[in-house]
Amino acid sequence: MQISFKNMCLVVLFCTLVLSESMQIRAVSARKRSGHLTHKHTHHTKGHHLIHHHHTLPTSSPPPPPHPSPPPPPHIPSPPPPHPSPPPPPPPHPSPPPPPHIPSPPPPHPSPPPTYIPPPPPPHISPPPPPPPPPPSPLPSPPPTPQAPPPSNASGGPSSVTGEGSDGGTCTPGSFSSSSFKDKYSILFSGDHACATNFGNAVNIWLDKTTGCGFTSSHPYMFGYFSMKLKLVAGNSAGVVTTFYMSSMFKNHDELDMEFLGNVSGEPYILQTNIYSHDVGGREQRILLWFDPTANYHTYAFLWNSRQIVFYVDDVPIRVHRYNNITANMYPNSKPMYLLTSIWDGENWATRGGLVKTNWSTAPFVASYIQNSVDGCEWDKNPFPDCVSKTWQNWWDQPKAWNLTQTERQKLEFVRDNYFVYDYCKDPKRYSPPPPECAVNLPWA
Ligand SMILES: *[C@@H]1O[C@H](CO)[C@@H](O)[C@H](O)[C@H]1NC(C)=O
Ligand SMILES: *[C@@H]1O[C@H](CO)[C@@H](O)[C@H](O)[C@H]1NC(C)=O
Ligand SMILES: *[C@@H]1O[C@H](CO)[C@@H](O)[C@H](O)[C@H]1NC(C)=O
Ligand SMILES: *[C@@H]1O[C@H](CO)[C@@H](O)[C@H](O)[C@H]1NC(C)=O
Ligand SMILES: *[C@@H]1O[C@H](CO)[C@@H](O)[C@H](O)[C@H]1NC(C)=O
Repeated sequence: MQISFKNMCLVVLFCTLVLSESMQIRAVSARKRSGHLTHKHTHHTKGHHLIHHHHTLPTSSPPPPPHPSPPPPPHIPSPPPPHPSPPPPPPPHPSPPPPPHIPSPPPPHPSPPPTYIPPPPPPHISPPPPPPPPPPSPLPSPPPTPQAPPPSNASGGPSSVTGEGSDGGTCTPGSFSSSSFKDKYSILFSGDHACATNFGNAVNIWLDKTTGCGFTSSHPYMFGYFSMKLKLVAGNSAGVVTTFYMSSMFKNHDELDMEFLGNVSGEPYILQTNIYSHDVGGREQRILLWFDPTANYHTYAFLWNSRQIVFYVDDVPIRVHRYNNITANMYPNSKPMYLLTSIWDGENWATRGGLVKTNWSTAPFVASYIQNSVDGCEWDKNPFPDCVSKTWQNWWDQPKAWNLTQTERQKLEFVRDNYFVYDYCKDPKRYSPPPPECAVNLPWA
């Protein structure tokens, strides 16, 4: 069929009109979408803001949250605990192991059998990824000097903080450097809010209205088993966040978090865990504890190797994150991490989105750390230490440490069934479908 030139012009004109109309419609809907995205992005930026502060350390006031975990998204639920009233029934006597039917926990990872012959390195760690150059100094930046450091009792701070243990000695603010932690750790910020006690074995750090405090390992580590005993702030600790975590600290950071969210008197603490890989977190899980974490010291630990990351509470695994070729880019294994602690004011997010504010009348809020053990590869050489290039020679990266034992699986299941209050893997409002690692972390389930 022949179309006349005039007809063709009409057709072209018509099409142009239709097209431009539809483009306008699309532009409007794109604007709508981008408005939506902008909102999300604000939240994201906030997280980065926090991370940034983490790197450029705080001066004394106002204190940015020392810990980089972004607040969980506003819609993160505070789901009703499985048992609506005070969930873990207070044990008649100190801390029964959570699974009553399971015999007393064996050490999480027995030392290597003497006869063990190292297997060839697993393919994905040979050769190990080229490590980032070691940080220029042990500390990401020098501990900030408080502007005009006030005498500790002039700012409402204690002149001494009651120590733990039997020495009954004083715990002089600023005495971190006389603690047993001094060889491997340094103050990260506000050293006047830390002190050594119990003949130097324990370190207390505290939060008051002026600031919190934190300390960090002087070296980073790549793979190992890292534990810390700690006792949390008792009484009304709502808004107080106490942490033990690992972080690579710098650009594209990886991080493993344990964050203890305080509560009003008589209500339970929440232990929030999270995992960051290349700056991407959002993998929150929350559990209640089966003991009162303010009454005694308990051990909190990370096992980290090329195959799995396990979070332990007193030898009970509460979380596992497995390496898998599908999830390789969500698995921290390319950067060494520091061990860190902190106590800070999280009243704006830690109490169900800021519902309850920190009550400063009982400040300072003191948390106590004791008996840290590090059984891992210290990253102190360039390009990388032997224990990383030959990491399979250490017990923490041998096959026995690559999988949970049957007993550990049972314990983890027990915790998941009875103490979980939140799991990002089961939050379709945030993740639908769940992120891919959710399907590989519990291969037996
Ligand atoms: C303040 O500190 C000084 C010296 O550290 C001490 O002698 C004094 O008892 C403290 N005062 C109070 C009220 O704690
Ligand atoms: C991932 O591992 C599975 C078996 O473990 C294998 O079948 C699959 O080919 C691997 N995929 C990739 C992309 O390497
Ligand atoms: C504090 O206790 C309340 C009541 O048991 C609970 O709902 C909440 O999850 C607890 N933790 C925090 C951080 O608010
Ligand atoms: C803060 O704690 C004090 C001492 O326990 C108490 O008297 C006061 O009512 C609390 N304030 C609020 C706002 O709960
Ligand atoms: C233990 O972990 C390794 C490495 O991730 C895996 O290949 C193996 O199947 C696991 N073994 C068991 C019994 O689950």
